[in-house]
Amino acid sequence: MEEIILNHPLVEHKISILRRKDTSTKEFRELISELAMILCFEALKDAKLREVEVETPITKTIGKVISEDDFAFVPILRAGMGMVDGVLKVMPNAKIGHIGLYRNEETLEPVEYYCKLPKNIENKTVIVLDPMLATGGSGSAAISMIKSRGVKKIKFLSIIAAPDGIERIKKDHPDVEIYSAYKDSSLNEHGYIVPGLGDAGDRIFGTK
Ligand code: PRP
Ligand code: URA
Repeated sequence: MEEIILNHPLVEHKISILRRKDTSTKEFRELISELAMILCFEALKDAKLREVEVETPITKTIGKVISEDDFAFVPILRAGMGMVDGVLKVMPNAKIGHIGLYRNEETLEPVEYYCKLPKNIENKTVIVLDPMLATGGSGSAAISMIKSRGVKKIKFLSIIAAPDGIERIKKDHPDVEIYSAYKDSSLNEHGYIVPGLGDAGDRIFGTK
């Protein structure tokens, strides 16, 4: 399955502001949220619609709606939390699960510390949220945790993805659709995306 990279001048504009090291915490949060909303639009292109009767001020007609109960968002803590309000603007009634993972700074391996997913998750399309797809270790581990609950349809949304991360998800989970606002060129020796935007969690929560 090919990854989908948003290719739009407005997206590139927003990413450039996001990358700047002197962008404020407030603006950084707002941009992550806006880009998450745009990614969510793209990822829901194939959402199923059902017909409903609608009465306009003029007449009755047949409209089409999405069943929001068919979807769950799962942010990877912490940084994925920054994307939640953006995707909820698109689908305010979707359920939300949480997966806690952090990357061991030496081994770069993900360490799991929390997992709480909505009930009946096995019947939903799960949309995983994490702004950074670097080595892909965290994303792959989160997807495995979700699959172990019986989920069949998973989409992964990231703001910036490195080629290594995309390849890792494709190799470990070829059935998962990957959506990224931008694909960067590489990783540095510490596993940070280059040019990237630094540590997304620290920038969203102002912890450094
Ligand atoms: C960051 C990011 C991803 C992970 C990406 O989280 O939000 O979850 O690193 O790296 P990977 O693709 O190499 O696994 P981090 O571990 O810094 O935790 P945080 O969100 O709590 O800051
Ligand atoms: N996690 C981040 O927050 N940034 C990176 O560049 C890589 C992993």
